[in-house]
Amino acid sequence: MTTTQKFTYDSLFSERSEDTPVRKVAHAKYDFAVAYPAPETLPMYGLIDALKAKVDSDGERVAKEMAYYPHVFGSPELREFTSEKLKADRDIDVDADGIVLTAGSGEAIALLIQALTNPGDVVLTERYVYGGTLTQLQKFEADVVGAPIDELGLIPDALEETIKRLTAEGRKPKWLYTISENQNPTGSTLPESRRREILDICHRHGLPIMEDECYIDLRFDGEAQPAFRALDDSGIVMHVASYSKLIAPGLRMGYFVASPELTSRAMSFKHGSGPNQFAAYAITGFLKEGLQRHRDTFNPLLKEKSDAMQRGFADHFADSGATLSKPEGGCYAWLTMPEGKDISSIRDEVFEGGVGYLAGPNFAPNDDGQNCARLCFAFETAEKNYDGMALLAQLFRKHGVM
Ligand SMILES: Cc1ncc(COP(=O)(O)O)c(C=O)c1O
Repeated sequence: MTTTQKFTYDSLFSERSEDTPVRKVAHAKYDFAVAYPAPETLPMYGLIDALKAKVDSDGERVAKEMAYYPHVFGSPELREFTSEKLKADRDIDVDADGIVLTAGSGEAIALLIQALTNPGDVVLTERYVYGGTLTQLQKFEADVVGAPIDELGLIPDALEETIKRLTAEGRKPKWLYTISENQNPTGSTLPESRRREILDICHRHGLPIMEDECYIDLRFDGEAQPAFRALDDSGIVMHVASYSKLIAPGLRMGYFVASPELTSRAMSFKHGSGPNQFAAYAITGFLKEGLQRHRDTFNPLLKEKSDAMQRGFADHFADSGATLSKPEGGCYAWLTMPEGKDISSIRDEVFEGGVGYLAGPNFAPNDDGQNCARLCFAFETAEKNYDGMALLAQLFRKHGVM
């Protein structure tokens, strides 16, 4: 049957549904707007070899497991490996049953947000924070407040002042989200002494901490600082991390560790089974053999790329009054133009001119950051990072912000 009359859903949509057009992803010639490393760094053959080795050596079990839906916490083998990795790398004691694998850490964050947040609840983050978490918090109607930061991340005294001020206003914060290692978007790593102070503050005010270590494996300078969860196993810390940036976002594999009662609540928002079992075989096999080797090839490359962007900045932004953060890992550097220089409103023109970046307001719960931008150094080559900074300076001059 064919009919020319178009069926309309206008009066049928649920109240909670929103029109959500699929965003078109366009790439500038120098693409500093993306959020992942270059595709050529992904260990495709390492993953394929690991998968094949697993099927060859354990085919019967693989066939059996693949014929069922995965455990709701995800592959037991990958949880076992993750438990060993957390102990070895982060001194976190948690057994496989205390780890929940998720479809990327984005899902882990969403489950925990829903377990803890009613509409109107105040949630604290860094002043500039990963846009994906910010969007999720806003979707679940949290009242998100960015706490003051400096080049090292959250400032404990200022955090406590913020908690006291909000409490006095009748907006007592409920919990804190922090990206304490290689922060997105600023690149900062929070020193151990500040972590200890923040733990004290959060205990005093009854605020759980969600630490997001999405970039923990991407370190090329300095030392990782102890995880909040390693410093405190009272249950106040939720630990979230991901295999996206270490291996590939396309695998969609992340995880969280939380106290049993919180995990049980978070799982009430889980739909269906655990994440992709096929991806879990590849990740487990690949990392069991080659985790350190992979980090040892990947991170020097990231350093080379980061250094090139820093050189480009030093050579082409001298005397501009701008600053560029100096990350010790991760994928991003944070550009701050002098106060009053709006690089947010000229983003599209600069993109047309050949340089893509994400403007500060994408990361700003307090609606500021118009003079800031996140620059991803992980995607383009070192040479393009340098040249892209030269072009960016030229475009900023053309548009009168430099
Ligand atoms: C800080 C941070 N957390 C979590 C995520 C989510 O990543 P995924 O869902 O791929 O694990 C990202 C992605 O960019 C991120 O930057």
